[in-house]
Amino acid sequence: AAEDVRVHRLGGRIGARIDGVRLSGSLDDATVQRVREAILAHKVVFLRGQEHLDDDAHIAFAERLGPLTTAHPTVNTGSERIYTLTANKGMAANSWHTDVTFVDRVPAFSVLRGVTIPPYGGNTVWANTVDAYDRLPDPLKALVENLWAVHTNAYDYADRDETEDHDDAVAVARRAEFRRTTYETQHPVVRVHPETGERALLLGHFVKQFVGLNQLESSTLFNLLQNRVTRLENTIRWTWQEGDVAIWDNRATQHYAVADFGEEPREVRRITVAGDVPVSVDG
Ligand code: SIN
Repeated sequence: AAEDVRVHRLGGRIGARIDGVRLSGSLDDATVQRVREAILAHKVVFLRGQEHLDDDAHIAFAERLGPLTTAHPTVNTGSERIYTLTANKGMAANSWHTDVTFVDRVPAFSVLRGVTIPPYGGNTVWANTVDAYDRLPDPLKALVENLWAVHTNAYDYADRDETEDHDDAVAVARRAEFRRTTYETQHPVVRVHPETGERALLLGHFVKQFVGLNQLESSTLFNLLQNRVTRLENTIRWTWQEGDVAIWDNRATQHYAVADFGEEPREVRRITVAGDVPVSVDG
């Protein structure tokens, strides 16, 4: 019941652990509301001990947060709703991003379940994009409030990541699949959150360039802003255990899956809740 929900803050700017909830599709409305409020307040929340969740129960719970969207717009996931990430290599989840920003309607929430967790490494890190906006100096706020970015799944910045292995056939094939249909869309760099009214920076590795700026100007400004988003004080890092569930507000965060688990197996499954077309400060 709702009175059993206990929310423990984990960081100064982002992240909380929720205790006292057994996730399922049949939770009462008040409990779901408490969980939703915690997600909106803390941007990402973590629940331990959810081993009872199978795919169906995972879907049933995620549906309580809103209508679901497709598992992934380009990847052959083998499932309508479940995106299974088995190793991050070649998927570029080990660079900072907000999920699926290359479509018009950016997902609202992602619900990620730890299925197989490596004996070491494989943490995920989240950053608060509302706080990153709030802490910008006023002249930079004025600059980004009028700025739009081009997002595409043929992501340019991730391509320059030196850690990517271009000789790895599996990685190359995965990347090709990821891009088999190219999406490109424009979003405001500052979006107004549809539920909280907060302003957030909407960036991440799918940004190709800013509208009206050239590549050099774009990458300079992108790096400046991304550094603000990803500074360590603005993040929370989660060490997974099997049965953990992380739920994040995709409209207020970026995340990074740390690829430091060698050849150890790692499997997480994600259900994605549909969101709105991002709205700029001008409405
Ligand atoms: C993701 O980008 O949604 C995957 C995060 C993870 O593998 O930890």
